[in-house]
Amino acid sequence: MNLLQEKSIADLVREDFPILKQKVHDKPLVYLDSAATSQKPKQVLDCLLNYYQEYNSNVHRGAHFLSSKATDAFEAAREKVAAFINANREEIVYTRNATEAINLVAYSWGLNNLTQGDEIILSLMEHHSNIVPWQIIAKKTGAVLKYVQLTEEEELDLDHFKSLLSDKTKLVSVVHISNTLGVINPIKEITSLAHNFGAKVLIDACQSAPHLKLDVRDIDCDWLVASGHKMCAPTGIGFLYGKQSILTEMPPFLGGGEMIDEVFLQYSTYNDLPHKFEAGTPAIGEAIALGAAIDYLTNLGMDNIHHYEEQLTAYLFKKLVAIPNLRIYGATNRKDGKNRAALASFNIAGIHGSDLATMLDNEGFAIRAGHHCTQPLHCLFHASGSARASLYFYNTYQEIDAFITALNDTIEFFNSAM
Ligand SMILES: Cc1ncc(COP(=O)(O)O)c(C=O)c1O
Repeated sequence: MNLLQEKSIADLVREDFPILKQKVHDKPLVYLDSAATSQKPKQVLDCLLNYYQEYNSNVHRGAHFLSSKATDAFEAAREKVAAFINANREEIVYTRNATEAINLVAYSWGLNNLTQGDEIILSLMEHHSNIVPWQIIAKKTGAVLKYVQLTEEEELDLDHFKSLLSDKTKLVSVVHISNTLGVINPIKEITSLAHNFGAKVLIDACQSAPHLKLDVRDIDCDWLVASGHKMCAPTGIGFLYGKQSILTEMPPFLGGGEMIDEVFLQYSTYNDLPHKFEAGTPAIGEAIALGAAIDYLTNLGMDNIHHYEEQLTAYLFKKLVAIPNLRIYGATNRKDGKNRAALASFNIAGIHGSDLATMLDNEGFAIRAGHHCTQPLHCLFHASGSARASLYFYNTYQEIDAFITALNDTIEFFNSAM
């Protein structure tokens, strides 16, 4: 898309998101919770409806018109996902979400490759989805979990990471962009350092795939996971990227239809990649709509999205840091909002995050409060939770202005009641 100078990307796309036009509690909705799930443009919703209305059918099995049309669209969407992150189609496994993709690697690779005393390195800023599966596998195999600390500036401590690496390290599984801190981790460097010790690397790209151009060949990671619903696609669809040579060696995760070649009474042979990992009827319409979401993002241009969000983030941060007693978590040296993701998790002294969120909801602002599935991180900050405002390319400067005004009014309300 050729972006006009005087128009922001949000101005251009706003009509594509009818959901954003509504009022909640009689106030115009301002949606600032895209890190939890993004809104879906009409183009994606039309694609989903079109599948169910026009060619709903099962894939890879029916020898009839609708089935081959569905199969073609389902596989074409896989090609789009592959192109989006510079992978081959065989390397893209559809999953329900990123959580399922991490569990797939944990159970298929982890359970079969880790033994007593092997080390798995995670970071303190991981989402629960990238902690709990490894705890389960560590318990079953005797592997040990190690956590990379944060620096004083609340970024990933690369020196500490280097000090944890050893011949015992078999896996490094880290988040690209923290959903709480907004920190962008140097995943290429992390991957290369881990590979020097022969360790495999998994990247949780849940918060980066929607916002940044990703190139798995350049990163050189062994696996990468993302959820469609955070990148304009429906819920129920996500993907696992895995290097072909590694996926080939990995045993199936779930057994059933689709993932087999032949089934005998005592054993079965398995399908080619990526179908070996896709047991049962998949989320067909949702996968096709993920393809439409990728078309939509690609058409806007990931660089345009990133550039606009950088400006929007800088604007949000300028306003937030001016509020007394407001503490933003993560990358505390980047108060200009540069080189960090389009989100801010914060607390205000004396006011509970969930009280803030409830009051703001009454005014039409959708923000998130709680631990954002990063409880160990919040423990580190001695906080039970925080409030989080997260942006996407459809948010506007005017929405940020309105949010800051409402936030200030809410703070004033609480302070006057004390
Ligand atoms: C960084 C990160 N990792 C993993 C997840 C899990 O995503 P899902 O619940 O879609 O599997 C999330 C969701 O918030 C996330 O932000």
